[in-house]
Amino acid sequence: MMAFMTSAPIAPEIPGAIIALARAARRITVLTGAGISAESGVPTFRDAQTGLWTQVDPEDLATPAAWARDKPYVNAWFLWRVHLISAATPHAGHRALADWARRPDTDLRIVTQNIDDLHERAGSEVLAHLHGSLFAWRCDRCERPAPTPQAPAQPRERIEPDTCPHCAFGEIRPGVVWFNEALPERELADAIRVCRDADLVVVVGTSGIVQPAASLPHLAGARGIPVIEIDPRPTEFSPFATHVWRATAGAALPALVAAL
Ligand code: APR
Repeated sequence: MMAFMTSAPIAPEIPGAIIALARAARRITVLTGAGISAESGVPTFRDAQTGLWTQVDPEDLATPAAWARDKPYVNAWFLWRVHLISAATPHAGHRALADWARRPDTDLRIVTQNIDDLHERAGSEVLAHLHGSLFAWRCDRCERPAPTPQAPAQPRERIEPDTCPHCAFGEIRPGVVWFNEALPERELADAIRVCRDADLVVVVGTSGIVQPAASLPHLAGARGIPVIEIDPRPTEFSPFATHVWRATAGAALPALVAAL
């Protein structure tokens, strides 16, 4: 028999138990992390340490202390991420979730740790951005929202933040949740609710290291709600998942939704 080379993606084999759960579920909660954006070329915090920032620990950039110490430096790094994410496009995995949500008798809720907008650009509504958004800037004093500043086309080491036009004292910071900051209350409450009332929870592309997001799938597991993990590598949550599917988001999610 001859084998022909083809550029068509190979659909991964879907574990039968996963298809059965997905077909039966009406209320589905999908918890996503950086891994779902990987195939769109969005760098994770650590991947992003290129060029100007190779010697910098990302946790030293994404903190209130870093902002207090050197606002232009932190501002420039986040604006470079605005540039990178704006240039990225959603992939078939993002689109598959939007398609799943449009199916009849389906209530699919997306809770993401990502600060990008790729779910939305794929046509999904996101219930909760647990770690905020790179496209929701605000004053660091009066907290009033501000438009996303213009991102540079080339990485720059320092960019002065804009002064708040309302209070005139504060400066405009990214609306992301930094390390040592509290998560937004409404988003966290909604995330907890939809992990407790789901028929099925699907965890995609998160290492399960950063709390409190990492605890969310355990809320479902504690109630006997099945939790599927889709991730090419083992994670902190893997031992607790009902089913683990070692596949990428871009391959697994379209295959799963096509099989519903
Ligand atoms: N498809 C699915 N999962 C993938 C893919 C892919 N194509 N590529 C990588 N992954 C998985 C990795 O195996 C890993 O388990 O995505 C996960 C990414 O883990 P992290 O980089 O730790 O991302 P995340 O869990 O979202 O990080 C949580 O930490 O950096 C902070 O605040 C930031 O929200 C972020 C939080």
